[in-house]
Amino acid sequence: MRLTRYFLPTLKETPREAQIVSHRLMLQGGMIKQQQAGIYSWLPLGWRVLKNIERIVHEEQERAGHIPLLMPTLQPAELWRESGRYDAYGPEMLRITDRQNREMLYGPTNEEMITDIFRSHVSSYRDLPLTLYHIQWKFRDEMRPRFGVMRGREFLMKDGYNFDLDKEAALHAYNRHMVSYLRTYERMGLTAIPMRADSGPIGGEDTHEFLVLAETGESEVFYDDRVTGLKLGAREVDYDDRAEIAAICEEFTTLYARTDETHDAAVYEAEVPEAHRRVGRGIEVGQIFYFGTKYSEPMGAVVQGPDGRQVPVHMGSHGIGVSRLLGAIIEASHDDKGIVWPEGVTPFHAGVVNLRAGDGDCDAACAAIEAGLAARGLEALVDDRDARAGEKFGTMDLIGLPWRVTVGPRGLKDGKVELTSRRTGEAEEMSVEAVIDRIATIYGR
Ligand SMILES: Nc1ncnc2c1ncn2[C@@H]1O[C@H](COP(=O)(O)OP(=O)(O)OP(=O)(O)O)[C@@H](O)[C@H]1O
Ligand SMILES: [Mg+2]
Repeated sequence: MRLTRYFLPTLKETPREAQIVSHRLMLQGGMIKQQQAGIYSWLPLGWRVLKNIERIVHEEQERAGHIPLLMPTLQPAELWRESGRYDAYGPEMLRITDRQNREMLYGPTNEEMITDIFRSHVSSYRDLPLTLYHIQWKFRDEMRPRFGVMRGREFLMKDGYNFDLDKEAALHAYNRHMVSYLRTYERMGLTAIPMRADSGPIGGEDTHEFLVLAETGESEVFYDDRVTGLKLGAREVDYDDRAEIAAICEEFTTLYARTDETHDAAVYEAEVPEAHRRVGRGIEVGQIFYFGTKYSEPMGAVVQGPDGRQVPVHMGSHGIGVSRLLGAIIEASHDDKGIVWPEGVTPFHAGVVNLRAGDGDCDAACAAIEAGLAARGLEALVDDRDARAGEKFGTMDLIGLPWRVTVGPRGLKDGKVELTSRRTGEAEEMSVEAVIDRIATIYGR
């Protein structure tokens, strides 16, 4: 993609409404535009990152055996009356009436609708276990939308729902979600710590929130600092192996880590050696729940068990804040010049700065790099503007592409271009062919 043909409306001035760095950088980097309080357009660069995050979420959910579908944003009030949540939900729910005076709502979550789909089509234990999920826009009329996409009113969420015959099977689904979420966040370059949480309006017994440590986080967190060193890494996991999945969950949840909602000072002091105690702040990027028959019972989601009796299914719901993750990743990965995207989610794999756009050799070398990368399945953003080098470097630093190739007439005379790491600033000269190979290697292509 050539920058002169792209749509990247970066801002020179610092937007005054941005209180935290991720919001500021997303506005300055031309990624989002606010349309109303807590409601954003996703401009091309922001949209690319959002799609990358969605792709990783899908890949890890499908790896865990969970099945994607898509439910609508608008839901009938009727379904929510069945569970009793229509009145209980309060002013966060956006209520709408259509021309026939039918009551509807813009879904803040989907337990009722997925339970309705389940009860319409499943009647035997033989069809279990089943986990269905979607990635869809939600609306919550938050009292204080703020921090850009971190606390929006309209936001993109992955929400998944498991249906199981008994509690034991449902807890395995819970554990499967925990492990798949750990993998998901790691692929985005994040350390997200599962913390014991309160269940809130979803209701239920077991629940963990996943928190990314950041000073700007809205939750206060108390933890044993050794949890930050835990990594899933490249290990192979068998999602059908209950014992193996449970052991991984134990590994990640044994050390003390709680939000202020569940923090217990006495337990904290008893369990965590003083040298390892940490109090900080975190951004909630996901939450998992087991809630048993809370929805299946009132809504009649029952199956025939092996003994012929009708039993309500055991359920849980599991959410990832897909749009919030952009903010969380930027909070965790930036410097004073701009964003530093982890390779897993970057909007373009590399930036190519043409120091003399219009010069035949420079233009040809940039085109060769772009084509060479494309042949390996990688996308480059080529800055072919007629602008000063400083301005071009500034734009690349701001939008945070992890690798930059600089192409100029002086280097090209010796057949060289320069590859620079956004993270470390380290630069190395090499040929056009070598730079394509190097970038492909970095991305495992
Ligand atoms: N207003 C919002 N804007 C952006 N993302 C959100 C918002 N509310 C929730 N999310 C994301 O969706 C995920 C799943 O939703 P859940 O119902 O657990 O949210 P929640 O606990 O109400 O969130 P919060 O406590 O931050 O209000 C959250 O972990 C969070 O990452
Ligand atoms: Mg939550």
